[in-house]
Amino acid sequence: MDLFVVGGSGLLGAHVVRRAQRSGARVAATFHEHPQTTDADWHPLDLRDQQATQALIEQLRPRMVINCAYRKDDRAITADGAVAVAHGAAQVGAHLVHVSTDVVFSGARVHYDEDSTPDPISAYGRAKAFAETAIAGVAPSAVIARTSLIIADGDSPTEALVHSLTGGAPGVLFTDEVRCPVHAADLADALLELAASARSGIHHVAGADALSRYDLGVLIARRDGLDPGSLPQGHRAASGPPGPLDVRLDCTRTQAVLRTRLRGARQFLAPPTS
Ligand SMILES: NC(=O)c1ccc[n+]([C@@H]2O[C@H](COP(=O)([O-])OP(=O)(O)OC[C@H]3O[C@@H](n4cnc5c(N)ncnc54)[C@H](OP(=O)(O)O)[C@@H]3O)[C@@H](O)[C@H]2O)c1
Repeated sequence: MDLFVVGGSGLLGAHVVRRAQRSGARVAATFHEHPQTTDADWHPLDLRDQQATQALIEQLRPRMVINCAYRKDDRAITADGAVAVAHGAAQVGAHLVHVSTDVVFSGARVHYDEDSTPDPISAYGRAKAFAETAIAGVAPSAVIARTSLIIADGDSPTEALVHSLTGGAPGVLFTDEVRCPVHAADLADALLELAASARSGIHHVAGADALSRYDLGVLIARRDGLDPGSLPQGHRAASGPPGPLDVRLDCTRTQAVLRTRLRGARQFLAPPTS
């Protein structure tokens, strides 16, 4: 087995599976609640069962593992389950790429490179930061790939939200919450490159443009021929759930070692030219 994708049934995992297969790799992948029918070697897995997680990796003995699985509200999956994946990968000598997030940062400094120290302010951010540290201890050759908001040609929750808001559904897009959105295909290609490389440690893999949720919504609406003027604005600082506001991953160092271009949202959401 070349590649084992944990969380292959998710938004990012599905792109990783597809793009790896397209390049000729033999791919095994997992699902939890959403069984898949595409042509890969699919395995059910609950990361809360750490023994089963390690046993599956030992059975498959992949060369590379990319872990895209998480649940925002469940530390047993996001942190402890991710550490079990690292133990399994280390056991069979597989090169692990663990997907992490920009919300390991509070936003107090706005700009963060790979040397910045995590200072999470949400339970999710704390679980991801814990996983990063524990995985580096268990599997020192692992890549920790921090990313940002994932957009995917109509498939992402962010795009679905924009569509529903233009249709009059309740909700707002925050003008004060800024991220560096990345296209799922760019991110998948970058993760596959990192998995196949000899690199280790923290890597920042996000899009080149920093945008507010609202400005991102406007780009999505324009691309999809919807009325951006119908998108309601709001302030997360005033009304949203607690969490980081302005977090921008500086990807300069990682981009310099990748062939994959991490496009900015202004480029990948540009309306199609006729
Ligand atoms: N989405 C974003 O905008 C964003 C931003 C920054 C970082 N990230 C990071 O990117 C990664 C992928 O995110 P995503 O948006 O692709 O996630 P997603 O679409 O929610 O997919 C999550 C995956 O985890 C699996 N999963 C859930 N519970 C599980 C369990 N108990 N045991 C095993 N697998 C379980 C799901 O399987 P089933 O669906 O089959 O249940 C699914 O394959 C995560 O590490 C996340 O922290 C995402």
